[in-house]
Amino acid sequence: MSEIDVIERIKQLQAERGAVILGHNYQVPKIQDIADHLGDSLDLSRLAARLPNETIIFCGVHFMAETASILSPGKKIILPEPDAGCPMADMINVDDLLSLKGKHTDAVVVMYVNSTAAVKAETDICCTSANAVKVIESIPEGRTIIFGPDRCLGGWVSEMTGRELVIWDGYCPPHQLIIPEEIQALREKYPGSKVMVHPETIAAVRTEADAVLGTGGMIRYAGETDADTFIVGTEAGMCYRLEKEYPEKRFIPASKRAVCRNMKKITLEKVLASLETLEPVTRVPADTADRARGAIQRMIEIG
Ligand code: 13P
Ligand code: SF4
Repeated sequence: MSEIDVIERIKQLQAERGAVILGHNYQVPKIQDIADHLGDSLDLSRLAARLPNETIIFCGVHFMAETASILSPGKKIILPEPDAGCPMADMINVDDLLSLKGKHTDAVVVMYVNSTAAVKAETDICCTSANAVKVIESIPEGRTIIFGPDRCLGGWVSEMTGRELVIWDGYCPPHQLIIPEEIQALREKYPGSKVMVHPETIAAVRTEADAVLGTGGMIRYAGETDADTFIVGTEAGMCYRLEKEYPEKRFIPASKRAVCRNMKKITLEKVLASLETLEPVTRVPADTADRARGAIQRMIEIG
């Protein structure tokens, strides 16, 4: 089947099944081009719950589909490639978290949504990069806060809020490949450019930036900022997303090596197969989902 035929068949099946296609901002260009909605992890989990469609083709990674499924237990959340995981989410498991909670028995547990449903079930409030500062600020001063799994996001939030956190030592492998030297060289090559970086980058990269933002924040910043060239310190696929939004502006990846292999596992053929079979559905055991839902809802209420 040619690519045009694959896309046509996707659209036809989508209409027959009443399915909506959601795509994370890091998806490959072909998926970004067919998605009904693109967004950051917070946007997508909210959208999955709000949209009337009973079938959602979720083009992202496993924890995102799990979050959508927890928020919308009646809906079919389909991740076209079940093997698309997030290595950072797997850097903390329930035993790790329980033993940390055992050492800090009065702590409030804040977990990045990049975590498994089982870990969320032991969490008080989730956060994304878009709302992590607000989430920490919502916790009364003086309370001990456990933060995981991302040590970079944890370090940034701690700097922004002035709060001391007990931070788990996880990290995002692709974001660690972004280094300050490359950003400095790009700033010299593109005078007048603005540098925006994701809080999953290391501290030495964040200090080089004009703005530290999640992927949704980057889209807003590029639109509001009076510059025509931006150096983008996050997963390299973000540049295509930004170019789609602002074709008149130029977006340069801070590192071409910062590629999330898991995000790239979803292809048009896999989306088509999942619409044909309505599989594989992301399922979270009901008792885990019930315990994890509160932590996600608390985050959504905070904003
Ligand atoms: P955003 O919430 O900023 O889209 O980030 C998700 C993610 O996985 C970043 O690596
Ligand atoms: Fe996980 Fe990093 Fe990929 Fe985001 S970019 S999904 S944090 S591995």
